[in-house]
Order: sequence, then C-alpha cells, then structure tokens
Amino acid sequence: MLSTLIEEESSLGKGWGLADLLPGYGSIEVLGQGARSVIHRVVHQATGKHYALKRVVRREPDDQRFIEQVETEFEVCHPLEHAHIRRCISIHRKKKLLRTVEVLMVMEYIEGLTVEKHRPARLDHFFVIFRKVAAGLHAVHQSGHVHADIKPNNILLGKNGVVKVIDFGQACPIGHRKKRIQGTPDFIAPEQVRRINLDQRTDVYNLGATMYWVLTGINYPTEIAGTSGTDISRADAPQSPREINNKFPLALSQLIMACCKSNPNDRPADMIQVDARLKTVQNLWRKKLDELKATKRANPAGNSENVDLLE
Ligand SMILES: Nc1ncnc2c1ncn2[C@@H]1O[C@H](COP(=O)(O)OP(=O)(O)O)[C@@H](O)[C@H]1O
Ligand SMILES: [Mg+2]
Repeated sequence: MLSTLIEEESSLGKGWGLADLLPGYGSIEVLGQGARSVIHRVVHQATGKHYALKRVVRREPDDQRFIEQVETEFEVCHPLEHAHIRRCISIHRKKKLLRTVEVLMVMEYIEGLTVEKHRPARLDHFFVIFRKVAAGLHAVHQSGHVHADIKPNNILLGKNGVVKVIDFGQACPIGHRKKRIQGTPDFIAPEQVRRINLDQRTDVYNLGATMYWVLTGINYPTEIAGTSGTDISRADAPQSPREINNKFPLALSQLIMACCKSNPNDRPADMIQVDARLKTVQNLWRKKLDELKATKRANPAGNSENVDLLE
C-alpha cells in the first residue's frame, strides 16, 4: 500500500501555504469542495504530471468521521483499477500526538465537469455515460463493496468520452448496516434511510434516481428530499420520465422506474441487468434515429421530429 506518514510537528495549519499542501506537489487551483474536504489540482514537481488532491483537516472532534471517509475511500478505491473509476493513488497523513489531524489523498486528475454541472442533453450521450457508470459500479460490486452515494455530483465527465465514478467516502461492504443515515437527499434509497443492510441494489436505486434527474431535470421523490425535491410520503405517485416527456423511450422510462422501486427485490438485481437493459434501449434508439434520418433524406422538406435532444 502506498501510504506515507508525514509527521507534522508544528501546530496545524500554521505555515502550510497552498504551495506546500504535500511535499513534492505544487497547488494550482481548487477543483471542488465536499462537506469537509477540499479538492485541489496539484502538479507533481518531479514529473510535471497533474493530480487531484483531496484534503481533510481535523478542526473539531466531529471532523474525525470525514478523515475516516477519506481512509475508507482509499481502502475501497486503491485496489480498483477500472477505466470508469477515479483512481486513488496514495494517501498521506499528518499526525500530531499520534492522532491524524490531516489527511491528503492523491488521485488521478480529470479535466471536466460533473454530470450535475453538465447535464447531458442528448439521449445517445446519456446511454454512453450511464453504461460506463454501470460498468464502473459493477467492478465496485465485484470487489465486494457498495458505493452508496451515486448522484450527479459524483460522476465526472472528462474529454474524449471519459466517464469516472468518484467519491467513495460512503462506500461499505455489501451487506453492511450503517450506524447512521448516510447518503444524499433526493438520491437516497429507502434502505439507507431505514438503516437496513445495503447491497448492490442500493447503488441501483441511487443510479435510477440520478438517471431520473438527468432525463427530466426533476428529482425523484425519496424518503429524504433535499431543497429541490419532494418527500415520497408527501408526493403523489411519481410520474415516469415517459409521462413527463413522451419522447423518451418507454423501455428507458420503465428501467428507471424499476431502479427506483422501494423494495430492493423489485429492482434490477445488479449492474449487469441495468447495463443489459440500457444496451437494448440504446440499440432501439439508434435504429429509430437511423430510420428518421433515412426518412428525412428521402423527404427533406417533410416535418421531421428532432429526436437528438432530450427535450
Ligand atoms: N479527480 C478529479 N478531477 C477533477 N475534479 C475533481 C476530481 N475529484 C473531485 N473533483 C471535483 O471536486 C468535487 C468534490 O469531489 P469528491 O471526491 O466528490 O469530494 P467529497 O468527498 O468532498 O464529496 C467533485 O464534484 C468535482 O467537482
Ligand atoms: Mg462528492
């Protein structure tokens, strides 16, 4: 394991400018922020290569769990080498009186935006992105873990079709029962709210809620809604994407609604099933597009439907 210990004797924060977050790395910019973490783009001075650096500082006792989340992320992610999972390369701890007061994790840098910031506007892109996410999550499940926090903000889109699942801070072993409610309102599965055992079908739900939002721009009503969503207990029966916009393929709408079923037994059993269904709809969609293009070529003046766009 590439784990380094940096003994920091001086008082925390004192004398640590942006340039020396981690010896050997120069800080370039802040890429993003989590509840207690800051993600920096850094340059490895010896090679000139750019990396992302996740940093959590223990400022108060409650920060301990955020330090633990980075440790968890490294443990789960470091052994995974997959094209669609952000690589976690090394972890570095600063200690004071034997206690970890700061943790820094070096990860691969991806130039791009999250799905939340760059909501895909075309169905053909949608299929490509979510089939890659499903493949990444399948690898996570094969390693015996659940990601447990899939949402638009935890999927990064890079250049040339790069898609990465990120943020494994809430990951846990398949079958694990958490001590506290963890997840993100608007994407959280019922078993996460009720704190029962999580398994790969929890990711199926979180992914379903994510796909629902990407397609419709509306949050699926969950058991804990955020500021823009609705609690399922107070919501009418959720409308399917197809009911919201009848241009969406029926089979895709049905898949998303199946992923979001309250009872895990009613959902697709795993990411292989999700991907198989996405692939089927993708092929049907391509066929439909080809037919429409052929019709348009044969009759350029005709009234043609714009099927490229989601809405
Ligand atoms: N490897 C990376 N390359 C580029 N941007 C990143 C990278 N990792 C994280 N980010 C940005 O930082 C944000 C927070 O990262 P994330 O790993 O989700 O941290 P947290 O655990 O704090 O939620 C992301 O949504 C993204 O905008
Ligand atoms: Mg995150």
